[in-house]
Amino acid sequence: MTTTADTLLWVVIPYVCLAFFVLGHAWRYRYDKFGWTTRSSQLYERRLLRWASPLFHFGILAVFLGHVMGLGIPKAWTEAVGMSEELYHVLAVSIGAVAGFSTVVGLVLLIYRRRTVGPVFRATTRMDKVMYLVLAVVIFLGMWNTVAGSVLNLGGHYDYRDGVSVWFRGIFRFDLHPELMADAPLGFQLHGMAAMLLFALWPFTRLVHVFSAPVGYLWRPYVVYRSRSDRLGARQARPGWERVERKEPSRR
Ligand code: HEM
Repeated sequence: MTTTADTLLWVVIPYVCLAFFVLGHAWRYRYDKFGWTTRSSQLYERRLLRWASPLFHFGILAVFLGHVMGLGIPKAWTEAVGMSEELYHVLAVSIGAVAGFSTVVGLVLLIYRRRTVGPVFRATTRMDKVMYLVLAVVIFLGMWNTVAGSVLNLGGHYDYRDGVSVWFRGIFRFDLHPELMADAPLGFQLHGMAAMLLFALWPFTRLVHVFSAPVGYLWRPYVVYRSRSDRLGARQARPGWERVERKEPSRR
């Protein structure tokens, strides 16, 4: 039986969070188009970022594709193409373990860098801190479900493709099943709820950059940095690029 609390938690709150996600992005684009950025801190520090950023981004991309597969594709479809329950499980846990590990190591490094590198920390807003906290909680709970449920088998077997996934797809098809989430293990409930909170915050954080992947970056021309320094270096200037003496404005 579905209670009022189940409906509130697994129907009303998810729709409110998803409405924030959609309308929030429209609002941000309309009123803060020029603030739509990663607010990259690469100029302040590169050594740690060179490892942390690819580890996190490749990991989270694989986790995202795993969610498309696990939440988006009904179990009946994978079985119809001959993928047994066992094969699905082995693939999900093995690929998921690598993806999850890479995401967690990347995230820990990103947070460590943000806290310990002075200029990066000073460029961190309150909203960044809230975002990192919620993101870390969502990722930790997701990993907890995989490790505790699928690897260590704590608390017995739970097939999220018969529960959480059906609830999740139902939200978009208006085929509501709050009772499935009410019956899910606590770890899945907390992960789902924390993810909804993250979706609600998303448009007001630097995470908006997900929707403006810099594809053109791969083909853009080099950025030419020119020094303002008076030290000219040893190389002869190329014709047409000789340095022009700067004239002080005359004072009368
Ligand atoms: C409402 C939305 C979401 C639902 C219903 C959901 C559900 C799930 C489920 C069912 C699993 C698999 C657990 C298992 O293997 O037993 C999982 C794992 C995971 N989730 Fe989510 N998730 C959602 C959103 C997110 C978001 C937004 C993130 C990160 C930003 C995330 C990060 C993770 C991670 C890191 C794992 C572990 C994956 C791995 O083992 O590689 N999830 N999630």
